[in-house]
Amino acid sequence: MPAVVLVGAQWGDEGKGKATDLLGSRVDYVVKFNGGNNAGHTVVIGDEKYALHLLPSGILSEGVVPVIGNGVVVDIEVLFEELDALVERGVDVSRLLVSSQAHVITSYHRTLDKVTERFLGKRRIGTTGRGIGPAYADKINRLGIRIADLFDPKILHDKVEGSLDQKNHLLVKVYNRRAADVDAVTDELLAYADRLKPMVANTPLVLNNALDAGKTLLFEAGQATMLDIDHGTYPFVTSSSATAGGAVTGSGIGPTRIDSVIGVIKAYTTRVGEGPFPTELFDDSGEYLRKTGGEYGVTTGRARRTGWYDSVIARYASRINGLTDLVVTKLDVLTGMDKVPVCVAYDVDGERFDEMPDDQSAFHHAKPIYEELPGWWEDISGARAIEDLPANAQAYLRFIEDISGSRISAVGVGPRRDEIIPVHDLIHAR
Ligand code: IMP
Repeated sequence: MPAVVLVGAQWGDEGKGKATDLLGSRVDYVVKFNGGNNAGHTVVIGDEKYALHLLPSGILSEGVVPVIGNGVVVDIEVLFEELDALVERGVDVSRLLVSSQAHVITSYHRTLDKVTERFLGKRRIGTTGRGIGPAYADKINRLGIRIADLFDPKILHDKVEGSLDQKNHLLVKVYNRRAADVDAVTDELLAYADRLKPMVANTPLVLNNALDAGKTLLFEAGQATMLDIDHGTYPFVTSSSATAGGAVTGSGIGPTRIDSVIGVIKAYTTRVGEGPFPTELFDDSGEYLRKTGGEYGVTTGRARRTGWYDSVIARYASRINGLTDLVVTKLDVLTGMDKVPVCVAYDVDGERFDEMPDDQSAFHHAKPIYEELPGWWEDISGARAIEDLPANAQAYLRFIEDISGSRISAVGVGPRRDEIIPVHDLIHAR
């Protein structure tokens, strides 16, 4: 029965692949339940490096059924491109299932994403430009196109027409762009139908049946807690539910079926795009973390903003997601520092906040209150047990565990798959 949910505890790019690797061959299904091709993870298997944006990481594991759930927005062109690239390298992709209720990202969503960002000017979100926000906006506005619509040309034409009715006025009169052609968009989408059809399934039914049959399911969030549409640093967020609750609505299983919720957290913090980031560094230490940690986006290539570990955010993520386990990644990146500061609380205009301020403006004004821990210089990439780590690295982990709201169940000590310290089993009963 185990249903394991995996979420990012910060602003994304925490290295969820590390936790996925630990679960390894024990997982039968890997379910993506939110977001789209705004995500990006690099998976290294042997000497081969795979960059995936839309496909769940399970696509690379033999015997695992990868599932794109109903909460995902699917750019079908990207889906086929990623599948083709894998097939070319001999990966069997035939097990992939796509929810018939997932929404489709169309060409006009991509256009709107780019033009709205330009119009927002200094208020821009810094999106990935992949059409994610406009596709979710249509879903909530009840003007979206779903995967199932591609198999009924008349309905599809009708829905595209309805969706473009207002948008074309906007595109032409406000954004000074060409109107999207209803027939052309419909034809473009219909052209995908035949190839897509065999992958499409009633995924909520498939997943519940799998749980009934005692299979192990991993629900892998795209993006992260602080980018969640409800619980993140709104409006500088993505447009989907990237927290544990999204695993339920985005896949069609009930909350009572979830056994554990793993939060992946870096031993420091990074963020891409705009928005508040209290522990952000603008000095040499920030540059050191960026260089040493290879902090450049997989999807956009953008340099990530970097900062120290923020335990206020860790506690918030523990609470919002009901985390049962934390996987700390990239501890090795902190090697070679005299002192390692950890943010324990915020100072907001003279007032101390031990927990995340409820008020957005307060978070914008939050100044980190640091506690400094002594650093370590030894290479830790060979450590496979906590006791293998230098005393100061152990003390750092103990310190952040005590103030982060969940136990630490694994620690990443290097980029390779096996460079990890397992502490507690990640598959367990509630
Ligand atoms: P969108 O998801 O493209 O709409 O972008 C909204 C915000 O989420 C921007 O700040 C992006 O940089 C950020 N974002 C989206 N996907 C990821 C991700 O996979 N990792 C980190 N940040 C992301």
